[in-house]
Amino acid sequence: MFDIHNHILPNVDDGSKSIEESLLMIDMLYQQGIKKIVLTPHVQNSVQKVSSKLFPEKFNAFKDIVKSHNPDIELYLGYEVRYDPSKNTDYEKFVFQGFSQKYLLIEFSTKIEEPIVDIMYNLKAKGFQPILAHPERYIYINEKDIARMKQDGILIQVNANAVLGIDGRIYKKRALKFLKLQLVDFIATDAHNSTDRKPNLGLALKKVSKIFSNKEL
Ligand SMILES: [Fe+2]
Repeated sequence: MFDIHNHILPNVDDGSKSIEESLLMIDMLYQQGIKKIVLTPHVQNSVQKVSSKLFPEKFNAFKDIVKSHNPDIELYLGYEVRYDPSKNTDYEKFVFQGFSQKYLLIEFSTKIEEPIVDIMYNLKAKGFQPILAHPERYIYINEKDIARMKQDGILIQVNANAVLGIDGRIYKKRALKFLKLQLVDFIATDAHNSTDRKPNLGLALKKVSKIFSNKEL
């Protein structure tokens, strides 16, 4: 099983602040049965601490450490790209590495309404496989917008902590609604640390399977 969205790569954004914390986060995922992890540091976001040009080098160094810590873990380099209308983003630079499809994880503003559907469609038309990060946070789009995107092959990712209610009541309600409507392709952790924003994928999956099995009774 994969976690396709997290901030485990240390010292590059507002995620993990040390190798020790990153290894702890990886141990937490491993204990939940997750061995394949796409590290997705923020890009085009004010929380980014170092140039994305350095990410491959930092990723490879961290991958070596993880390999000696737990050889069962498979790491991949990805990115979480903040849509920025003021930039002419070269999205080719930010596709997940090591996959045949050009996966792109994209996030948008939670405060200012942005043209999410148009941007995601454009990326799809250009041959990318866009993944919309945590749509439960964008209260200016609804399940109809998400259904439209999904129908046209755009992938939808909700956060484990939204499903669990840790991110607040509104995000939980929206995440569960999208799940019930079968609009969700991935639940991912979006973990930033090992404490208040820790990896909770195992718990979220348990909760979802409980909801669905109850529904069928
Ligand atoms: Fe994230």
